[in-house]
Amino acid sequence: MCGIIGYIGEKQAYPIIVNGLKKLEYRGYDSYGICVLNNNNVFLKRKVGRISEENSESEDKGFIGIGHSRWATTGSVCEKNAHPQEYNGFYVVHNGIIENYKDLKEELTGKGHQFNSDTDTEVIAHLISDEFNGNLEDAVRKALKRIVGSYGIAVVSPKDEGKIVIAKLSSPIIIGICADGHIIASDSSAVIDYTKQIITLDDNEMAVLRKDSYIISKEKKIETIDWENDSVSKGDYEHFMLKEIMEESKVIDSAIQGRLLEDDVKLGGLETSKERLKKANKIHLVGCGTGYYAAKTGEYLMEEIAGIDAEAQMGSEIRYRNVRLDSNQAAIFVSQSGETADNLASLKKMKEFGVLTLGVTNVIGSTQTKETEGGVYTRCGREVAVASTKAFIGQLTVLTMISIFLGRQRNLNSEKAKEIILELKNLSKKADSILGDCSKIEEIAKKYSQYKDFWFIGRKFNYPIALEGALKLKEISYVHAEGTPGGELKHGPLALIDENCPTIAICPQDSVYDKMLSNMEEVKARNGKIIAIANIGDEKVKEIADDVIYIPKTLECLFPILTTIPLHLFAYYLALSLNRDIDKPRNLAKSVTVE
Ligand code: F6R
Repeated sequence: MCGIIGYIGEKQAYPIIVNGLKKLEYRGYDSYGICVLNNNNVFLKRKVGRISEENSESEDKGFIGIGHSRWATTGSVCEKNAHPQEYNGFYVVHNGIIENYKDLKEELTGKGHQFNSDTDTEVIAHLISDEFNGNLEDAVRKALKRIVGSYGIAVVSPKDEGKIVIAKLSSPIIIGICADGHIIASDSSAVIDYTKQIITLDDNEMAVLRKDSYIISKEKKIETIDWENDSVSKGDYEHFMLKEIMEESKVIDSAIQGRLLEDDVKLGGLETSKERLKKANKIHLVGCGTGYYAAKTGEYLMEEIAGIDAEAQMGSEIRYRNVRLDSNQAAIFVSQSGETADNLASLKKMKEFGVLTLGVTNVIGSTQTKETEGGVYTRCGREVAVASTKAFIGQLTVLTMISIFLGRQRNLNSEKAKEIILELKNLSKKADSILGDCSKIEEIAKKYSQYKDFWFIGRKFNYPIALEGALKLKEISYVHAEGTPGGELKHGPLALIDENCPTIAICPQDSVYDKMLSNMEEVKARNGKIIAIANIGDEKVKEIADDVIYIPKTLECLFPILTTIPLHLFAYYLALSLNRDIDKPRNLAKSVTVE
């Protein structure tokens, strides 16, 4: 992962770098570093901790600088492993992984090089030094030829001052054209405070930036970013995560706005793919983590509503499998950031096989939106907390609409489509009623906060929601949690159920309701405690469960949107009781740009 930034121009670089790193912190926050050049003097700072605690007001340091916000891949979290990495006056910030770094390190050590860190990135600085013959870009070009892996890099050196050299392979990097110079970054959120004119570097491209010029290997189009940095204020909330959960009802409305017709949906981003989608005989839904659970829900939705063969795929797995792929299939990539490396690698593979590629994406202008042939934005607004919440609700809502779209191209009749559409319009009010009364969920979460293991169960549409509930809990509370279909308990997990392992059972009144009641009885018979998510007024569930969180009724295919909300709140409040670092849980990052 990691975020990189650089500036060269007429302004002081340091505050621009600090400000940019704060915007990129979601990409990694275990350590950070800044290097600024000033007439052969080098200011270098590397620190373990968060850039958000850094003050950008400081004395003049110079007009050329690079910075980095780290999510450790190779080498533990410590000052010497923070970037910029340096050797012999060559300073490098890097997002990606150098796969052959061990061989290169051995070779360079044999030649007398001494290494000061455990990172893979340091070899880049050594290679540049080895190749340097007075011109930085020549040295970088030659050094990169020896590297296997992925990189977005920015390099500066007092030995060839007055320029920043950048290069990219499989890790994003953009150039912002400012009135006073140039700014480079991993993504546009870090440059938008200074310019809206950007150039996106493609794989295997390199650029040399000077104060008033830039050179790229080939001519590139300058794009205009047509969005602002959303407000990143927490408002009155203690955490972004709670603020974002509280926005979940608004997200439903925002996702459906202008897209619902009487018995069909209007999704502009699918217009050009309409004919191919009509003929498609299989839909792959690809995602990672929470995005995968949305994809898994999408699989059930598409089978049920659209009557099409659908299969959820993990971005990190599908690319290595020999799944039969062809041009009669479509793949929908589900991602909040649109930058998840595993998804992007699978996207490349799908394209090679001629599969129609589409995105369900939140971040406008992200790599996924550029690489896919069409798609639908989730319109959730900026999600800041590392744990994805409102984006998941947006993904479920959009996947429901895509299912209607595909269904109407097939056998979904007008009456059924109307029924789902009508209920979609009512759904945010029902979501609001859950959000408006969360004190009970907070109380239950507190009550169970000392347990070390949790089991989440659900069936059919709510099986992926059980997975999502478990992921959210482990991610922010560091408590062990697992999700399984209710029917799978008896095939193994029941062995773990006792009075110390509570089960969260998602049990709305749908077609698998009776089966879920039986699964809850199985848990109870083993002295397991049960927290149930059930419909208002459900007396049967009340009799079995120890605690019940009530939600309104809706259509079976829309239950996942409502059942998710209490699970997000449960995870939040339990983590709060444990005093965890909720918005930035340990070891994680918001955007996972390494494979
Ligand atoms: C979990 C979480 C992650 C992401 C995953 C994919 O709360 O946030 O599991 O869902 O890393 O990220 P995107 O959606 O950006 O592709």
